[in-house]
Amino acid sequence: MIHGTTQIYGVIGDPISHSLSPSLQNPAFAALGMDAVYVTFRVSPSSLGDALRGLLALNVQGINVTVPHKSDVFQYIDEVTDTARKIGAVNTLRNDSGHWIGENTDAIGFIRSLTPLGLNLSGSSVGMLGAGGAARGVAVGLLEAGVSRLLICNRNHDRAVALVKSLQASFCQQSISAVSLEELEKEGLNLLVNTTTVGSDGYSSPAKLNRFDNLSAVADIIYRPSRTPLLLEAEKLGLPNLNGGGMLLYQGTAAFSFWTGLEAPESVMRKALDEHLSKI
Ligand SMILES: NC(=O)c1ccc[n+]([C@@H]2O[C@H](COP(=O)([O-])OP(=O)(O)OC[C@H]3O[C@@H](n4cnc5c(N)ncnc54)[C@H](OP(=O)(O)O)[C@@H]3O)[C@@H](O)[C@H]2O)c1
Repeated sequence: MIHGTTQIYGVIGDPISHSLSPSLQNPAFAALGMDAVYVTFRVSPSSLGDALRGLLALNVQGINVTVPHKSDVFQYIDEVTDTARKIGAVNTLRNDSGHWIGENTDAIGFIRSLTPLGLNLSGSSVGMLGAGGAARGVAVGLLEAGVSRLLICNRNHDRAVALVKSLQASFCQQSISAVSLEELEKEGLNLLVNTTTVGSDGYSSPAKLNRFDNLSAVADIIYRPSRTPLLLEAEKLGLPNLNGGGMLLYQGTAAFSFWTGLEAPESVMRKALDEHLSKI
């Protein structure tokens, strides 16, 4: 039941019906006994400014921002965190006494998801496949975590070069380069991360892992299917690996904490997400 005092949270995007966030955030509010709801708002690009002003006027406490608004949102908000600025995209907004503060929780979400691999990222060499929207958050997370070399390989090489340039502006002490797949295979990587969409069909793979020299671990940010061909090959080669389910969970727990100042009920959110993903 929604009351006059119920706190409202939500997600804006277009389209929006596919969003998993309500299934993640509503059980978290319930678990902590909070009088709060999380809803979806379909907002077209031409209505973005009006929607953001309206949500503030209605005292909505916090929102997630998804496609196609993650970059356009910058022009309508007063303050962004350092991480969101480096990524060049916002996926979470908090209403701070009538103005929006923008954050991007993809970077911390991805880095937290790597915990089961037991890697020491500081000083490590990481290869990243892809240079799209999600790649930016993953790259900033890795660089903030102290990797010393980040090698980016993308089908459209110019896009990889552009990403490298924009990252170099924020991380001038670390080695960041755009490379071909053949070059990447010879690098002796501590971690290979797939941020492309390749593998989401369950059949294709963005790389052949048996061609890599001295590769130590593999992460795929795709969460559906839970075992992409890339991860199945990693398993066959005995390489520690994980999928994108953890990133999805931890970008959500980080958003919850950013809005409420509370520790997110992680196990409740994990269970809710697993249940939701098993149904779709
Ligand atoms: N786990 C999570 O929380 C999470 C969060 C965000 C995204 N994701 C997943 O990450 C994936 C990427 O999302 P995104 O938003 O970054 O998408 P995007 O902006 O559209 O980027 C797509 C990337 O995939 C590459 N690509 C597409 N088709 C390819 C092909 N046939 N061969 C080689 N490369 C190809 C693109 O290369 P070009 O530049 O050459 O086109 C680009 O690098 C999606 O599967 C998404 O579900 C997961």
